[in-house]
Amino acid sequence: MSTTTISVTGNDAYGITIGRGVLDRVSAALAPGVRKILVVHPPTLAARAAELRDRLLADTADGPREVLLAEIPDAEQGKRIEVAAFCWQVMGQADFTRSDAVVGYGGGAVTDLAGFVAATWLRGVQLVQVPTTVLGLVDAAVGGKTGVNTAEGKNLVGAFWAPSAVIGDLDELASLSPNEATAGFAEVVKAGFIWAPEILDIVEADPTRAVDTTTEEFRRAVELAIDMKAKVVSDDFREAGLREILNYGHTLGHAIEHAERYRWRHGAAISVGMLYAAELSRLAGRLSDAAAERHRTILESLGLPTSYRAGAWPQLLATMQRDKKSRGGCCGSSCSTTSRSRPCCRRPMSRCSSPRIRRSERDTSHPAGQRAEPEPAGHAGAGGLRHVDPRGRRAHHRRRGSGVRLRGARGAEQP
Ligand SMILES: NC(=O)c1ccc[n+]([C@@H]2O[C@H](COP(=O)([O-])OP(=O)(O)OC[C@H]3O[C@@H](n4cnc5c(N)ncnc54)[C@H](O)[C@@H]3O)[C@@H](O)[C@H]2O)c1
Repeated sequence: MSTTTISVTGNDAYGITIGRGVLDRVSAALAPGVRKILVVHPPTLAARAAELRDRLLADTADGPREVLLAEIPDAEQGKRIEVAAFCWQVMGQADFTRSDAVVGYGGGAVTDLAGFVAATWLRGVQLVQVPTTVLGLVDAAVGGKTGVNTAEGKNLVGAFWAPSAVIGDLDELASLSPNEATAGFAEVVKAGFIWAPEILDIVEADPTRAVDTTTEEFRRAVELAIDMKAKVVSDDFREAGLREILNYGHTLGHAIEHAERYRWRHGAAISVGMLYAAELSRLAGRLSDAAAERHRTILESLGLPTSYRAGAWPQLLATMQRDKKSRGGCCGSSCSTTSRSRPCCRRPMSRCSSPRIRRSERDTSHPAGQRAEPEPAGHAGAGGLRHVDPRGRRAHHRRRGSGVRLRGARGAEQP
């Protein structure tokens, strides 16, 4: 089966391998001399993570390895500093050195957390990202943004830390629910609006095949989206300029996620945000009526939401003004256009007019918008942490208050 490699260039260059059945490339992606590997994964992928561990152990070309599995709580519950501390603890007890590695195997929440752990352990160890969701593949695992949530908000603590490789195995996506895949695909459509119009043609030709992870159309669209992100982050790793175009639709999208207490999928929220941005641009005379309407028809053809509760605007505007991407009161990304060279109009927020937000029966019940996701941080939840040592013995971890309790295979126990 063919594979595609997309390169991120710059000081921290790396390749993104895309294909089917390419999981065995994870081992080769690790630098020579890696002796210990921490595979961070969500509970949903526990069995598959064990298989990945076995593959890594089977490759002895570079000498024997120790592979540890760190199962972390699902989704945003895994993106907490306590979870990072759990991983540091596992690595410390296993004597991870600077030449060892972390593998993030999961959706964007896992790759963000794994990246943060890799960035911070001994001030930075090797990281290989193995995304297993559409959003993770086209967005979170590419570009080197890592982080955790805090009680004050999402992604407020983090680091830029580039992976040494990203292995995107499209077969890994087969187990995603259609809603999950479609919501993640919103980021692919975003790439179509801001950079690669061929993606829009693919969706318009057959929206069902476009979001079907097994089709060639899906693969082509995903590769175009990754190619865009790779080019953008190669040019602007630390989001000092061009990278801001990736925030298209995100200022309102983040406000909706916040208003919905993160029960909406990210892609569903930015779908509404992208149409908002298009309407705003149209009203500002920066986008044609046809281009704005194309946003609506494409997003709706995928079953993504394009409207939000009427009456929510004051609350959304207040959140948008606090958005970390707004600067000096400017809306930041709200009114991006399809132009690559003009990420933002830099108008003060007060001069951004609100486009009409239609009331819709699909307001909060849209399939791709539904999510039973807990609070971003500061809420313990039931999810536990589990570490499986290389000999297959499990170390059990019990949460008590906000702490993490580890009863390790080596007999360690910490409050
Ligand atoms: N670092 C970045 O640049 C960046 C960019 C965009 C988003 N993000 C972050 O990504 C996160 C969202 O990522 P996400 O949408 O992948 O959500 P997620 O990581 O929460 O995964 C969604 C769900 O899918 C499950 N899952 C993962 N892979 C699966 C598979 N192959 N089959 C079945 N189920 C699977 C997970 O267990 C989880 O329940 C957010 O925390 C967001 O902040 C980061």
